[in-house]
Amino acid sequence: MTEPVQTPQVFPTRVFSGIQPSGSLTLGNYLGALKRFAQKQNEGIETLYCVVDLHAITVWQEPAKLRQQTREIAAAFIASGIDPKKSVLFNQSQVSAHAELAWVLNCVARIGWMYRMTQFKDKAGANSENSSLGLLAYPSLMAADILAYKTTHVPVGEDQKQHLELTRDIANKFNHDYGVKFFPVPEPLIEGAATRVMSLRDGTKKMSKSDPSDASRINLTDDADTIAKKIRKAKTDPEPLPESVEGLDGRPDAKNLVNIYAALADLTPAQVMAQYAGAQFGTFKPALADLAVEKLGPITAEMNRLMAEPDEIDAILGRGAERADAIARPIFDDVKDIVGMIRSRQV
Ligand code: AMP
Ligand code: TRP
Repeated sequence: MTEPVQTPQVFPTRVFSGIQPSGSLTLGNYLGALKRFAQKQNEGIETLYCVVDLHAITVWQEPAKLRQQTREIAAAFIASGIDPKKSVLFNQSQVSAHAELAWVLNCVARIGWMYRMTQFKDKAGANSENSSLGLLAYPSLMAADILAYKTTHVPVGEDQKQHLELTRDIANKFNHDYGVKFFPVPEPLIEGAATRVMSLRDGTKKMSKSDPSDASRINLTDDADTIAKKIRKAKTDPEPLPESVEGLDGRPDAKNLVNIYAALADLTPAQVMAQYAGAQFGTFKPALADLAVEKLGPITAEMNRLMAEPDEIDAILGRGAERADAIARPIFDDVKDIVGMIRSRQV
């Protein structure tokens, strides 16, 4: 018997990504996420960018600090080139469809899927029974963020790959369980030289806002002198730069600096090697420091300017939330129909 031919449902391209307001942003967030978010927006694709405050509270956050950091992330989005007129820029807790859809997806996803997540294992540590229930359910809320808009593409850094695979599993299981082709199965976009920016102190560890050593990372709030100093002190080996990209294999610290240079300069690592083959780090590091200061300086300045106008940021987030809600609300009403709940009606 032949299967009936199903016309694949075509979903319009829509990009969604999020960043947690759980600390100050690093060069890794900028190159792995923010810079690429702005590129997607400028390709004329529909883009939604979200400060995921509901995710942040899966671990304890000081309330006043959370509010401040939410504004800071919003400022970083704008300073990195996100135009709130072109992209929908908002914070998650203002659009209730995220939490509502997350509940439905909690009932679709399996507990075992959550326990397998490496980010859960890292964050929960040895005493995982004592972590919040929200930390375990974190990936299901992330799936809700994405699917609430029928998102087709999700630009993220390499560390989010596993969460994106889980989102795909949840979308497929929902469609399968309810016998629908309702949610698209979203594609992760993990592209470019800087999908995993490494620590300046250890080229085998991810650059992270939670690393106890401040010298391990460049923060978007660092001034020019601090950036130059951190790059000058970055760990390297005694060899000069090799002739080709392959020569960087087994040299994680050197490779990381070349990748950072490439991503900042919009070059490929091969193009950087063509320019600096045989150079000593005494030459390469100052060039990298100049480039980093040139590219990050204007972003830091714009963030500081915006942070002095918190009301303006709140107004931008409020307008973004209205636009986001207008997309997500009818989609969630359809979810209610599919699941068998009585949808809200105007009376
Ligand atoms: P988070 O700060 O964990 O909310 O991450 C926000 C975004 O930045 C995600 O898309 C991450 O994958 C990305 N990201 C975080 N750290 C790095 C890094 N060291 N290199 C590249 N991308 C990163
Ligand atoms: N989990 C992501 C991180 O830690 C943040 C995030 C939450 C996200 N929801 C998302 C990223 C939806 C992409 C899409 O980086």
